[in-house]
Amino acid sequence: MKKYLLMLVAGMAYAAAVPVARAEVVLGDIFARQTTSLNGKWNVIVDPYDTGYFDYRRQPYDATTKISGGFSLDHHAKDKSELVEYNFDTSPTLNVPGDWNSQDDKLFYYEGSVWYRRKFDVKKSAPDDRLFIYIGAANYEADVYLNGKKLGKHIGGFTPFAYEVTKLVKESGNSLVVRVNNNRHPEAVPTVNTDWWNYGGITRDVLLVETPATFISNFRTRLKPGTTNIIEVNAQLDGASREQPVKVSFPSLKIAAEAKADKDGVARFELSTPNLMLWSPESPVLNDVVISTGADELKDRVGFRTIATRGTDILLNGHKVFLRGICIHEEEPLAGRRAWSEADARELLGWAKELGCNFVRLAHYPHNEHMARVADEMGIMCWEETPVYWTIQWTNAETLANAQKQLGDEIARDQNRASVIIWSVSNETPVSAPRTKFLKSLVDEARALDGTRLVSAAMEVRSEPGDPLHKIVDDPFGEYTDLCSFNQYTGWYDGTPEKIDRIHWTIKYNKPVFISEFGADAQRGFHADALTRFSEEYQADVYKRTLPMLEKIPGFSGCTPWILCDFRSPRRMLPGIQDGWNLKGVIGHDGKKKMAFDVLRDFYDAKAKAGLAR
Ligand code: GCU
Repeated sequence: MKKYLLMLVAGMAYAAAVPVARAEVVLGDIFARQTTSLNGKWNVIVDPYDTGYFDYRRQPYDATTKISGGFSLDHHAKDKSELVEYNFDTSPTLNVPGDWNSQDDKLFYYEGSVWYRRKFDVKKSAPDDRLFIYIGAANYEADVYLNGKKLGKHIGGFTPFAYEVTKLVKESGNSLVVRVNNNRHPEAVPTVNTDWWNYGGITRDVLLVETPATFISNFRTRLKPGTTNIIEVNAQLDGASREQPVKVSFPSLKIAAEAKADKDGVARFELSTPNLMLWSPESPVLNDVVISTGADELKDRVGFRTIATRGTDILLNGHKVFLRGICIHEEEPLAGRRAWSEADARELLGWAKELGCNFVRLAHYPHNEHMARVADEMGIMCWEETPVYWTIQWTNAETLANAQKQLGDEIARDQNRASVIIWSVSNETPVSAPRTKFLKSLVDEARALDGTRLVSAAMEVRSEPGDPLHKIVDDPFGEYTDLCSFNQYTGWYDGTPEKIDRIHWTIKYNKPVFISEFGADAQRGFHADALTRFSEEYQADVYKRTLPMLEKIPGFSGCTPWILCDFRSPRRMLPGIQDGWNLKGVIGHDGKKKMAFDVLRDFYDAKAKAGLAR
């Protein structure tokens, strides 16, 4: 609790001492709930000077519970003489979900505040039902108001948040106002410097959620650690009458049980099921589960599998597995926008399947919930990551609390996804004692919240001065991770492709070796000799040389080349070639495949055949 209070304090640091009205509520299994979508066209006000948030003395209008002014009040002039200098009704609109950058050329590079307003009516199904506003994600910080009252402030652009509004809603004409700000801050997570587009806006679903007075706020299903035939279920109730009976059933497994929730509203179950079919990429078996109380019911589809390491092997359901992977950014390349929908997930994971993947690294932040759910179905294992990327403020307690919260929210959302096998706590962070301490506490957090998955990070490689062919992986943080996973760009940032054939490795850890990134830029359709940068031939050559080189590393257990599709990046300026795109995709941002796609697919086909032959 203390660290979340710290987190709330962090929120205030940006906006100077604003009392937050309500705590965030976790609403797990959101798609199985009784909801009303508030997606669609929202009126917006682009507010670069935060005029709607601060008065001219730069004091926030919501410094006091009774908000003193500003756009959150959604006020309209009562008569011709009243001075009101904004009007949501006559303001332009933007689609929600959706980033603002790809919806309006004037907002393509925009970083700052945009105010969103949505009107809605409510017809409750039962008088004592409760109501919540749920937002799948908004980048980067969101101040949320309903009918002129502050609901809360959420920080972090990639995790869901919800607030109870039962006492605040009216039957009609409710005004939901959200100030979204995507300014970058040194103390933030991620910090000011990233290699992806800083898409702003309400980027995922907004839902009005109705629940009974006491409802099931979340649940966790998993195999009891150390077993493959005992299912553990924990259900969390929220409401006045918590200590009540809860039922759990798995119809297709013909098992069910009942237990009484304790004073904290937690009901625990252990269900034995002798012939449980385990989930795997080859057979992604999902089972219906129903959690119910007298008044509430949640349904979901869940798979069961074990994941572990033994020496340098990764074991899925006790069997050695090779992770045939690819990295993915949460971006729909053809439209050049933030991906958010189930269709987007099917497109991206469909391409990964075509590549022969049984694994994807969802980089560098929690993607939308559809990704892991579709991966469950398609039989694709997932690496999920918290955006602790490059040079974070390691000694800043608020930054740590922020990162811990984002990790916690990600786990609370995706803990029931069989496809998710790895929680990653960072990417390419510079070695130092404060950094390793920071990351270690995230590893501890992940293990405390979910001890059944692997925990890792994308580390880096070093060389001794004067010995550039000798690649060394001995990051002290590797002590705490389950995999020895690192990014390496020999042949692109380090030399040309021929160097790949000459390097040799020293890897400190007796753990599965996983290459979380390698690759090269190629402009789709640009053909030249294999030494010409940005040609498809150069990129393909990097793949042709890297894959066999990696195969020689003892303990090599998988890789996720960088990256499935070209993606937008504000760091990639080469005119006529990059033009704001990182071109390391094996698929171009026109959706067409590059030569490297075939090189990788052929490698994975051979691996899959060898695996099956085993
Ligand atoms: C880094 C980083 C990626 C980046 C990539 C690149 O390793 O993790 O986010 O996009 O390299 O330089 O293309």
